[in-house]
Amino acid sequence: MTLSESPAKAPADEVVLEAVGLTKHFPVRRRLADIFTGRRAVVHAVDDVSFTLRRGRVTALVGESGSGKSTVARLLAQLYPRTGGDLRLHGQTTHVRGGRRFRQYVSRVQLIFQDPFGSLNPVHTVRYHLTRALKIHGNAGNSAQELEAALANLLTRVALTPPERYVDKFPHELSGGQRQRVAIARALGADPEALLADEPVSMLDVSIRLGILNLLRDLKERLNLAILYITHDIASARYFADETMVMYAGRMVEGGDSETVTQTPAHPYTRLLIDSAPDPDRIAGIADAGAEDRGNGEPPSLIRPPAGCRFHPRCPHAMPRCTVDLPPRLEVGQPGHWAACWLYDADTVAREGIGAVGDPSIPTPPAHQAPEEAR
Ligand SMILES: Nc1ncnc2c1ncn2[C@@H]1O[C@H](COP(=O)(O)OP(=O)(O)OP(=O)(O)O)[C@@H](O)[C@H]1O
Ligand code: SF4
Ligand SMILES: [Mg+2]
Repeated sequence: MTLSESPAKAPADEVVLEAVGLTKHFPVRRRLADIFTGRRAVVHAVDDVSFTLRRGRVTALVGESGSGKSTVARLLAQLYPRTGGDLRLHGQTTHVRGGRRFRQYVSRVQLIFQDPFGSLNPVHTVRYHLTRALKIHGNAGNSAQELEAALANLLTRVALTPPERYVDKFPHELSGGQRQRVAIARALGADPEALLADEPVSMLDVSIRLGILNLLRDLKERLNLAILYITHDIASARYFADETMVMYAGRMVEGGDSETVTQTPAHPYTRLLIDSAPDPDRIAGIADAGAEDRGNGEPPSLIRPPAGCRFHPRCPHAMPRCTVDLPPRLEVGQPGHWAACWLYDADTVAREGIGAVGDPSIPTPPAHQAPEEAR
């Protein structure tokens, strides 16, 4: 068995993966008018996304449907070529498309999909799936006994015990939660440093979601893994993730430690997400403000995204500048807590006033005060 039992050699908090200005535009089929005008339409799925994944930490990526979360995961897994930006593995730029270098990359960065039913081949047993992963990544040992021990080890790690009860089962003989555990075991067969979990519990019964999240947390701690946890559910990010980043229409709009982002959200879109999350012990003090802060309407077209802040058509606090200038990341109080919102630029607020474009009856939320007063 060659899987690392103790990741002591890797320091906790070590940066494994770093996205720097990651951008992905998908070309869309040209219409006749586009041919005459020479316009090349693209879907701005991900624009200028930057963050790090560190050993022993869960980073949540939260946003509504179509905000670009899966595209970020696929860019990190190098399943898509990027349009722009950089992706660094241990500080080194990495750009692989297929072949041996791709396999080497995949052995360090594994993707877990949302659908545990679709991700396992129904005609093969658990043994087949796990053996294949172990062999591809050179972790199957040198004998039948070592392979058997590696299989038992993987199943034990994902709490499918005793292993002999599960190893020869077919996917249809397992529950959704058990299948997702097998999918996680298969990812662990590569002995990775980073797991990219794209909505790993959203297709499971509510009653078993917590078990899978607890398993991932246990793996983070015992194997010192860096985990990207993608979800619609900001309440689960609070529970499960060390750090939370919020995406809207292909851009990151807020980030910081999970407790701060979920308890004192700064960006109007994050406030909207929390306001609409079914979290029973939500976030005293936010609930009331959230009612005033509610954004209206639909997410924008990503083919012609709004200029300036992409949230401005829905934002009740939009100012004239928001419709023109893209807000940078601005510090909002706690160290490491930032929001891409002009409300945190004192000069802009002083010059343009609050609610100049939005409904003037909206009262000034705490965020409209100078950042140091607001916290
Ligand atoms: N292969 C593709 N070709 C063209 N457009 C795409 C492609 N993949 C994704 N998109 C578009 O990019 C945008 C972001 O999609 P993505 O799947 O990353 O969002 P998401 O946040 O994961 O959504 P969901 O929560 O529904 O899974 C969407 O507008 C989507 O339609
Ligand atoms: S206040 Fe302006 S910058 Fe901030 S979220 Fe609203 S529209 Fe965007
Ligand atoms: Mg998705």
